[in-house]
Amino acid sequence: MTDHRDMSPEEIQRWADRFENERPEDLLYWATKRYGTDIVLASSFGAEDVVLIDMLQNVAPKTPVFYLDTNKHFPETYETRDRLQERYGVPFIQVLPKLTLEEQAERYGDNLWSTNPTLCCNLRKVKPLTDILKQYRAWITGIRREQAPTRANAKKVEWDGKFGLLKCNPLASWTYDDIWSYIRVHDVPYNPLHDQHYPSIGCSVCTRPVLPGEDPRAGRWSGFAKTECGLHK
Ligand code: ADX
Repeated sequence: MTDHRDMSPEEIQRWADRFENERPEDLLYWATKRYGTDIVLASSFGAEDVVLIDMLQNVAPKTPVFYLDTNKHFPETYETRDRLQERYGVPFIQVLPKLTLEEQAERYGDNLWSTNPTLCCNLRKVKPLTDILKQYRAWITGIRREQAPTRANAKKVEWDGKFGLLKCNPLASWTYDDIWSYIRVHDVPYNPLHDQHYPSIGCSVCTRPVLPGEDPRAGRWSGFAKTECGLHK
């Protein structure tokens, strides 16, 4: 693995502290100034990601944005991508898995997402992510601490040892309400599934709506003892 570390752990921690109570835009400004086209935003076009896409238009509109296209996203997700593209003119980079769905079925059997969702996530998300991140020195994600216990300790700026580059999480301290008030105030296009009890949206075959009172991520890989697909843990 190429290690793109250009800061000591202490320096990374200092930046994390520095931005802890700053606006997400301030972190985006610093990170995009520092890394230019060597920093990339990862977007699944969920509520957090559309906020970041909107913010980047004002801060550093040339920042590349990619999405991991598993070929199994909801039609609403692809439509959201198209509406964002129309609104902001961002050329989203499509990152595809090595195997088509047909090749995957031939090699591993039909509906791998039902028989072995971890392998499916690895093939269609984690491996393609590993490959694309090799081209960058830093990435920006929409993870928030309150989303899951696995994310509770996410820092605004941290070293991503799994992928070997800096990770910026400008919305780490934001609440669900912060996200939605930003979307409303700035009239940002968003995935309409969020209005249909889908707080967290992954592939259509592995995401269901949540019931009242359920955890916001209960709809992801429901029925499996799986809460992360390997992008963030
Ligand atoms: S996941 O790991 O469980 O799928 P989640 O849907 O909560 O992640 O999204 C958290 C962040 O991971 C997003 O804000 C985005 O930065 C990144 N991410 C998730 N899915 C994708 C995807 N398909 N393509 C690009 N980035 C993604």
